[in-house]
Amino acid sequence: MKYPKEYLEEIKTRLKVSTVVSKTVNLKKRGKEYVGLSPFKTEKTPSFTVNDEKEFYHCFSTAEHGNIFDFVMKTQNLKFGEAVKSLANLAGMRPYTFSKEDEIREEKWKNYKSIFNKYVDHYHDQLLKNPISTEAKEYLKKRGLTLEEVKKFKIGFETNDLNFQENIFNEFEENQIKDTGLFYFDDNKKKYVSRFRDRVLFPIKNISGDPIAVGGRILKESKYFAKYINSPETPFFKKGSNLFNLDFARKLSNNLNNIFLVEGYMDVIGLNKNKIDNVVANLGTSLTTRQILTLNQFFHEIVICFDGDESGYKAALRAAENSIIELKPEKKISFLFLPDKHDPDSFVNKNGKDFFLQFTKNNSVSIHKFIFEHYFKKMDDSPSSRAVFEKRLRSISSTIKDEFIRKYVLEYFLEKISELTPNINLKYKKAFSKSPKSLKSTQNYYNETKSFKAVDIKEFSFLYILLKKPKLIKENFNIIENVKLFSNENKLLFSEILNQSKNFKITDIEYINIDHNLIERVNKYASIKHIITKNFNDDEKIIEILSELVRDLKNYELEIRIEELESRFSKDLSEVTFNELKELKKLQKIN
Ligand code: GTP
Ligand code: MN
Repeated sequence: MKYPKEYLEEIKTRLKVSTVVSKTVNLKKRGKEYVGLSPFKTEKTPSFTVNDEKEFYHCFSTAEHGNIFDFVMKTQNLKFGEAVKSLANLAGMRPYTFSKEDEIREEKWKNYKSIFNKYVDHYHDQLLKNPISTEAKEYLKKRGLTLEEVKKFKIGFETNDLNFQENIFNEFEENQIKDTGLFYFDDNKKKYVSRFRDRVLFPIKNISGDPIAVGGRILKESKYFAKYINSPETPFFKKGSNLFNLDFARKLSNNLNNIFLVEGYMDVIGLNKNKIDNVVANLGTSLTTRQILTLNQFFHEIVICFDGDESGYKAALRAAENSIIELKPEKKISFLFLPDKHDPDSFVNKNGKDFFLQFTKNNSVSIHKFIFEHYFKKMDDSPSSRAVFEKRLRSISSTIKDEFIRKYVLEYFLEKISELTPNINLKYKKAFSKSPKSLKSTQNYYNETKSFKAVDIKEFSFLYILLKKPKLIKENFNIIENVKLFSNENKLLFSEILNQSKNFKITDIEYINIDHNLIERVNKYASIKHIITKNFNDDEKIIEILSELVRDLKNYELEIRIEELESRFSKDLSEVTFNELKELKKLQKIN
């Protein structure tokens, strides 16, 4: 019988893990945790830790891990219900008495599970053993499945075995059978008929691995029958809560960071056949936030990979807008688009595991980027279309529940939008960062840029041009080479660029061996970047800007030296210093 979540939560709130564990293990405090000798293994140095904040224990030598219920079950060899009773007692709570409804539901669930197990096992057996299933077997073979996948997923073929049906109706009550959705009452024939007859069966299991629904595929496409039919919703199968293959895939989360989310049964199976088994399917229904939350419980990153056609793209967009709502710090959702006409199944079968994984690595886009790019492509450059575009992006980001994610996604959008309006950019930035509600990271950016001197910003812009247009270095070496920079990091980057450009090999400096952080600083702070982007192909214009920067930087150099000399002169009042000063001031005028 299932305990209500709140009851279990109350036990957990009342009992610290360390309280429960210290009944049998001697614990010592170490920082935020407790350590002790593992109860699962004889050992001399403690490798067993307890974390009250995170509500779990972890044993480093046996990899045992769990909450207070697991601990009591494992160390005292109790069933879950017994562990709950014992811990409730320890917590000073009354033992839970189940209500009449609980009992009825529990009884229903037992029968439901039992009917499903019989059904799935029987028709799996029919596929493997009954000659009637030859055509189905051929079909699966043609789709590239081997016995291994057929067994792993307990794929079946509904041979419409009336003996089996009769047995079920003898063993279970009509209502219980009706609840499973496996049979329905045919009003014409005045009897129950099997919903999935003549279809290949794909069992859908809940997270614990009990079959609770099935999907059935016809062997030959036909315009009279749906290609797939799935179980209807039942008391124990809610479409938006389940994911096909979650029971297997979740077990991989100890070793893998990411999970693929695909559309169909065959996609999951095809990937599995190619040894990619961290995959689940939402079975053609639209993705719910509950499904996202479930996947996030286990995996750090969800890679949504729908079919490479228009309906796959539409489904992906819907999935993106639904799931960005639940995006959490530390979690990632990205999208992988396959070439047109491919689905994950066909793509992995054609190209194999390594290619598929490499393709994923190179081509998946983060959720905010996907959303931005989608709406960007739909926009034309009329003011009203742009306004709609910005409003849409703002409204999407406002649906995000986590305030930090909301802030950064909004900032990402606004930053990209501001690139569309380079002319009001500066004003916009200023207003933006002055507003009391401004985003933290924008505020940081603003503070950082404030802490730079004007000359630093000029240096960034100067370097930015060299990095983006390496071709111009050689052509204008004479104006560039004698420029003197002031900040050490920029000096380093500049001399690296000059060195490399002497090699006459470079075409794109960004790809050569320069400390990436230096480049990133330049990319981030060069105030010139929008202007350069806008005029990227206008070399004349860029050289003009470059020369202006060089002049400013040279002037700055002079200024510094003048300042130095003035300060020296005020101390030594020497003729030499004075003359040098005069020379420099003359130069400054010329510049
Ligand atoms: P194959 O054609 O066998 O490769 O199917 P697939 O698994 O690649 O499925 P597809 O991409 O065509 O559809 C994705 C999922 O949507 C399927 O796995 C089904 O769960 C569901 N689906 C597809 N067609 C139908 C249909 O006609 N009716 C219903 N109810 N669901 C469908
Ligand atoms: Mn397919």
